[in-house]
Amino acid sequence: MAIPQSFLDQLKMSCDIETIVSSYVSLKRSGRTSKGLCPFHSEKTASFTVYHDSQSFFCYGCQKGGDVITFIREIEHLDYVEALRFLAERVGIPFPEEEQEDPSLRIKPLIYEINRAAAHYFHSCLRGEQGAPGREYLMGQRQLSTKTVTKYGLGYAPPGWDNLRNYLRGKGYSDEQMLQAAVVSRGRDGKSVYDTFRNRVIFPIIDIRKNVIGFGGRVLDDSKPKYLNSPDTPVFKKSRNLFSLNFAKNVSGDKLILAEGYMDVIAMNQAGFENVVATLGTALTPEQARLMATYAKEIIIAYDSDGPGRTATNRAVGLLEEVGLKTRILDMKGAKDPDEFIKKYGVERFKMLIDDARNVTEYQIGVIRAKYDLGAPDQQSAYLQEATAYLSTVPNKIEREIYAGKLAAETGALKEVIRESIDAAFNRRVRAARKKEASDIQSGRLDLYAGKRRANGMAEDGILGCLYLHPDWGGYILGRVSEEMFSTDDTREIYRTMLRLQQEGECTLTELGGALSEGQMNQISGIVARVSEQQLSVTREALEDYIRTLEDYSRKQEIEKVQDLSIDEASKLAQQIRQRKQ
Ligand code: CTP
Ligand code: MN
Repeated sequence: MAIPQSFLDQLKMSCDIETIVSSYVSLKRSGRTSKGLCPFHSEKTASFTVYHDSQSFFCYGCQKGGDVITFIREIEHLDYVEALRFLAERVGIPFPEEEQEDPSLRIKPLIYEINRAAAHYFHSCLRGEQGAPGREYLMGQRQLSTKTVTKYGLGYAPPGWDNLRNYLRGKGYSDEQMLQAAVVSRGRDGKSVYDTFRNRVIFPIIDIRKNVIGFGGRVLDDSKPKYLNSPDTPVFKKSRNLFSLNFAKNVSGDKLILAEGYMDVIAMNQAGFENVVATLGTALTPEQARLMATYAKEIIIAYDSDGPGRTATNRAVGLLEEVGLKTRILDMKGAKDPDEFIKKYGVERFKMLIDDARNVTEYQIGVIRAKYDLGAPDQQSAYLQEATAYLSTVPNKIEREIYAGKLAAETGALKEVIRESIDAAFNRRVRAARKKEASDIQSGRLDLYAGKRRANGMAEDGILGCLYLHPDWGGYILGRVSEEMFSTDDTREIYRTMLRLQQEGECTLTELGGALSEGQMNQISGIVARVSEQQLSVTREALEDYIRTLEDYSRKQEIEKVQDLSIDEASKLAQQIRQRKQ
């Protein structure tokens, strides 16, 4: 039977893979992955990995992988449709019997309606008599203007357990419907229902189509938790949306500013910077990085200047560069975040700060510099040492040269000396790598042609990964890559099926599971897993590389003899191959 897409979507939304898998495997969470002992083969160290972002699993031991449905199929020995029925029952979604209309078709518009009504309610509370504490906080303490408050539709949820619930009831919405929108929550007893947001100022989260998709609520004092955010609902996926993108997307130019918090975004808007977004109470996700890449070429990261802000900055740089975005980093001296900076030093200085935002190298050197007291000679030389060691890892020669000059100017040391020491460290690193490569080739530890075959497999996987994560590249990929360029039947079939499913609508592991064999599912899940682990790149640039590799390979399959090479010859050959790859 044909499974309605809306049912699959609803099922995917309701069956968090970690939750489901946890009832079979004891998982240990770290960041956005969880690990446990694989239930499909026997092992002593955990190589079974669950990826939260892609809602998939992959076992690095036995190479089994898939989504939650694949998992249930395998572990319960069910076929695809039986697994769907099993999961639907478990999470209480009616299984679509042929003629039955799917309620999720109607649920999304209804949630938008309820959210809009709730936003309206919170906003009018803020303006009304009972809104005095909210106004005092937002407009008094945080110095927001009426204009800004209106622009963002900010609100206030008064204290009390059922203000919003009564208001929405009066508009004819049932508890069940309010629960779906998560504007009310269910008590621990499983029966009582109460307002999710109480005595908090409210930040409505609005998508680019102007739908209210969720809320953030902040306390008015120092109590905890400082922020409460709507949980994910059928219309709200934290990992896929960005706060204030509805405004930022309209700004011309190719830059976006990425801030850490709602208040930073709003303060920057009030100061005249509209091209700013923030995540929704979670760390930046790959989906959000890709989302930004559709609106901008360069991201200025304006995270908090504290330790956690630094760590988050480094992570964000990686994710953003992965999708081909340039990054610059705001050096916010003297303030903990953009909101505070603007209040303390004014809009003009903030503008200068943005114009001066530095690239990653400059930023890292700044971080190193801050550790030392440059007035003390011994500290100065320690600083020089750490900075040159860092610079020797920068791949670009011109960049190394520029920073050698800067270090010299800063410390009074001779530029030549600094440059030499950077270059020496850099060359040492390169020589060591080359030497190891050449001796590996000579001793047979490294088979160059195996490398080439692997590169080819990796290119094939890379193309499938690009297609999976960027469905909108389908037309382009199809124009460049023909089925015959893939080396195995399975890969060809995955490629063909993905293109077909994307044409027909959605193509996630869930839809693929209905069409591919077990082995093929394992392969594509492995690809998705490696993308999550950042072992496989899915940028536009990487795609071009993959395509070129396949084109090269199908053009010439000449084999060169490697055995009996001297170490010099091996080194030369390695170099040729390396150049060919570039
Ligand atoms: N956040 C959250 N839950 C918390 C703390 C923070 O969801 N308990 C999220 C919010 O999205 C918040 C962001 O992390 O906007 C940044 O946190 P923080 O810097 O503490 O908040 P600000 O927006 O700067 O708020 P404020 O200036 O009011 O402290
Ligand atoms: Mn902050």
